Amino acid sequence: MGAGIAQVAARAGYDVVLRDIAQDFLARGMNSIDKSLQRDVDKERLSKDEKRAIMARIRTTTDIGALSDTFIVVEAVTEEFPIKSEVFKSLEEVTSANAILASNTSSISITRLGAVTRRPDKVIGMHFMNPVPVMKLVEIIRGAATSDDTYEKTRGLSGKLGKIPLECQDSPGFISNRVLMPMINEAIFALHEGVATRESIDGIMKLGMNHPMGPLALADFIGLDVCLAIMNVLHDGFGDSKYRACPLLKRYVDAGWLGKKSGRGFYEY
Ligand code: 3HC
Repeated sequence: MGAGIAQVAARAGYDVVLRDIAQDFLARGMNSIDKSLQRDVDKERLSKDEKRAIMARIRTTTDIGALSDTFIVVEAVTEEFPIKSEVFKSLEEVTSANAILASNTSSISITRLGAVTRRPDKVIGMHFMNPVPVMKLVEIIRGAATSDDTYEKTRGLSGKLGKIPLECQDSPGFISNRVLMPMINEAIFALHEGVATRESIDGIMKLGMNHPMGPLALADFIGLDVCLAIMNVLHDGFGDSKYRACPLLKRYVDAGWLGKKSGRGFYEY
């Protein structure tokens, strides 16, 4: 998702530093940006020169120190609190005291992330949806200490990126995943219990509810490990058994069948 976020920011005219821990990941990210922009060149919605200029606005690096001059950092690392908290501590060291530290987390508490820094007023959730260049929403999450100034600036930036920002308070799964994930989990339970085939479950939701993708295909698209992590956050956060992850979802994650990114999930890719 980091690549998608970099792409929309560069397309909106911002200079972007794309930082990852290894060159391989950066190359993969730039490759996906290239492919995504090429769709628009092919459809004559973007000229080759514009595409080149957008890509030239993105500088890649493995050095976190290269983020020192940024006015906002959007973190999009693995959905694990210990990893995110280490990243936030490093970001606090390398960025200027005025920089906003935003997280693209899908469910980790913004209040907890803010509390690992000495500037929780500048920590906020900026939750983009996949695929980032296509989806209009940015869910903006205010932690307990997020200031109005940070919120206003983040909301303003989201608009400049061509997105529609909608606000919610910090609560497990926010709004998007609190509503979406139990639906996906329920579809997995239905498959697990043999109520219907994967094609039937997805077809019913696509044709009957006008969803662009069925819930099982969407789970594969999001990543089954991400779905499981979000269900666990909901379960722990609310302490309600209605959020328990389906055993079939756990089994697939244990097997390394993580969806589209690993070549196999509920479907084969
Ligand atoms: N980059 C740029 N453009 C892309 C793209 C990408 N990666 N993927 C698709 N597109 C564009 C296509 O160019 C096309 O544009 P056009 O209609 O203007 O010509 C348009 O999107 C539709 O693409 P396709 O015709 O190839 O395919 P579909 O019509 O099947 O749409 C989809 C693909 C947009 C992914 C659609 O299936 C969809 O909206 N699926 C649901 C996505 C969704 O629910 N996302 C949210 C996931 S939850 C999340 O991210 C939160 C997290 O915390 C878990």
